[in-house]
Amino acid sequence: MSESFRDVAVEAARQAGAFLRSRFGSHPAVSYKGSPTNLVTEMDRSAESMILETIRRHFPGHAVLAEESGALAGAEPFRWIVDPLDGTTNYAHGFPIYGVSIALEHRGALEVGVVYDPSREEMFVAERGRGATLNGEPLRVSTTTTLGESLLGTSYPNDIREAARDNLVEHAGLMYRCRSVRSIGSAVLGLAAVAAGRLDGYWEQRLGAWDVAAGALLIREAGGTVTAVAGATLDLAAPSITATNGLIHDQIVRVLKEVASER
Ligand code: 2AM
Ligand code: CA
Repeated sequence: MSESFRDVAVEAARQAGAFLRSRFGSHPAVSYKGSPTNLVTEMDRSAESMILETIRRHFPGHAVLAEESGALAGAEPFRWIVDPLDGTTNYAHGFPIYGVSIALEHRGALEVGVVYDPSREEMFVAERGRGATLNGEPLRVSTTTTLGESLLGTSYPNDIREAARDNLVEHAGLMYRCRSVRSIGSAVLGLAAVAAGRLDGYWEQRLGAWDVAAGALLIREAGGTVTAVAGATLDLAAPSITATNGLIHDQIVRVLKEVASER
């Protein structure tokens, strides 16, 4: 049974990703969600429709939470959590760092997580208790033990001009204590990079469940640690995130708390 959940998630992500890739660079029409820096394009909506159509065809009784459509109730205790196009600002500018994220929850526990990077044709897949893979090869987080030797990722809130936490003091504070920080503009690809050991850690202040659900399972199944930004339990209902290889987790959380208290 769980095989087919995974297969449907992979099929939906690959199909939406191929569509996004085929239109990449075509300068899609942009509209704004509440703030002049929070973009949405016809591509977000079209990719989401494709994914929801695939999910409903296979599992008509399942609930869905999707970035553009919001919450759709279901009769069964399963919920699909979908980000059809993460990194919309990158995509709209023709900057090829964007991804598709699809997760499946059963009674509140993450069972399947899939992240697809159309630019690199990389499919990241995790199933609870069964590990994580990248294009079929097992994934493992990095073995870096100190923050000083770490490469970290982050991104900024879409509504940065109004946001209570713009992430700038955190970025500065960590930049001076690690090897470097990359601002990626796609949370889902940042989290997939931690699962793959390409980044030692990733943090971000305020996200949607669709940004973190699949990535959190990928990282846990690849041996890493995922919490809210200041170290509390990850809350999918209102997520902030610190995600690491586990070995540097306390070090990064300590710095994030320290700089936040000085704000
Ligand atoms: P998006 O591209 O789907 O909007 C950097 O902006 C990263 O954080 C992206 O992954 C972006 O997702 C996400 N993000 C930024 N601000 C957000 C917000 N207020 N709610 C949800 N996701 C957000
Ligand atoms: Ca997103």
